[in-house]
Amino acid sequence: MPMSHRLTLTQYLIEQRRRFPGASGDFNALILDVALACKAIARAVAFGELGATATPNGAVAALNGLADAGGQTNVQGETQKPLDVISNQVFIKLNEWGGHCAGMVSEELDEPFQIPAPFPRGKYLLAFDPLDGSSNIDVNVSVGSIFSVLRAPQEVVDSGRDITEADFLQPGTKQLAAGYAIYGPTTMLVLTVGAGVAGFTLDPSLGEFMLTHPRIQVPADTHEFAINASNSRFWEQPVKRYVDECLAGKTGPRGKDFNMRWIASMVAEAHRILMRGGVFMYPRDTKDAAKHGRLRLLYEANPIGFIMEQAGGRASTGRQNVLGVQPSSIHQRIGLVFGSRNEVERIERYHAEPAKSERESPLFAPRSLFRD
Ligand code: F6P
Repeated sequence: MPMSHRLTLTQYLIEQRRRFPGASGDFNALILDVALACKAIARAVAFGELGATATPNGAVAALNGLADAGGQTNVQGETQKPLDVISNQVFIKLNEWGGHCAGMVSEELDEPFQIPAPFPRGKYLLAFDPLDGSSNIDVNVSVGSIFSVLRAPQEVVDSGRDITEADFLQPGTKQLAAGYAIYGPTTMLVLTVGAGVAGFTLDPSLGEFMLTHPRIQVPADTHEFAINASNSRFWEQPVKRYVDECLAGKTGPRGKDFNMRWIASMVAEAHRILMRGGVFMYPRDTKDAAKHGRLRLLYEANPIGFIMEQAGGRASTGRQNVLGVQPSSIHQRIGLVFGSRNEVERIERYHAEPAKSERESPLFAPRSLFRD
């Protein structure tokens, strides 16, 4: 297709905005600031060990000042890599000044980030994981950035007061937009503004995200699943059952063979699933009683869940649609299953059904109380 037929991200956003005649343009400007941050991070990632030395606007300073950053531990107890810190700075620098954000939450910051004076405060809340899967940086495997946009409570906008953690504790159904950038062989931005999912490929010669995947749909069925099998002894029974049935392949109850994948980079797994189907599981397990899962609700599970749902897939805790969960803290972790709808629904069914040991108990015998 000739290039003139492809929309840029800006043109796509303008078209989307026509659905809302009263829109001021702030929302589009926010998404474009996020996209610019992603381009700057893509560049930093692409330089690898060589280290990037220049990115747009304030990010130049952030990158130069932070070339030796990292090594500290973030609020999640994970060691920050230099690129984690740099990516966080890039996101903040490019989103603090425009007057669109009322505040931000980042995986890398303990507390919500307050928009500093003299910048004006806007009506949106931005939650992000600036560099997801960053352990893959050292081995040159795809990583990404994930973001979620919420509306700030009206009272915050009217008063201009500092934002609090409570302002961000909105279920995923309240998201206005969500997306991720994947830094792989090509850099792509995958975005939903609540009207389907669109994928944009970065044209490095133009520095523009071009619309290359206008209506991404997750196939409803799959024969591919992704899970960190080293945790199998900690899985709950419904997850064990699902995986056992997949592994049993043609000779088991599923009657077909499955492939297994594990990249350890959720953005890369989500992208594969959006392109060709599949199911991803990082379920609640018993590994650490203090953690109800591995992935973070506000800036990992919710945005990926919104994208999956908008692409015809599903995202769940195993027990309920993840987008319906009322968050209790900004860095809350949660069990997450997402991807091809029929598989996610099957896993939910297994969670809802009684365990095999219970199914075999006398209460489930023919003509007994729980027999269906
Ligand atoms: O942010 C969490 C994350 O890096 C995801 O991108 C990835 O799916 C997961 O952790 C990998 O976890 P593990 O180290 O258990 O494989």
